[in-house]
Amino acid sequence: MLKQPVPYRRIIFICTNKKEDASKPCCGAKKSEEIAMKLKQMVRDRNLKDQIRVSKSGCMGKCEQGPNIMVYPEGIWYSNVKEEDLQFLFDELLKPLL
Ligand code: FES
Repeated sequence: MLKQPVPYRRIIFICTNKKEDASKPCCGAKKSEEIAMKLKQMVRDRNLKDQIRVSKSGCMGKCEQGPNIMVYPEGIWYSNVKEEDLQFLFDELLKPLL
């Protein structure tokens, strides 16, 4: 096992879990996959791939509040994220890096 510092300044986890039972709430049914793709593109467009990692995650346990996004190292949790929130969210995440 190799122990080393986290190689990114910020890691954004976005739940893209999709439940087979359509009657149960899940982030994947609320466009979280599209949100993840847009966030990844925003990071690429700003040449921040070496500083910000956008990772899809499994269920985070707050399915009814999805899409859910968790940000480290700040430990911030965003719920009910919509595509129109991404610019605000991204600006919030960029501020400490500027
Ligand atoms: S499906 Fe996203 S938190 Fe459970």
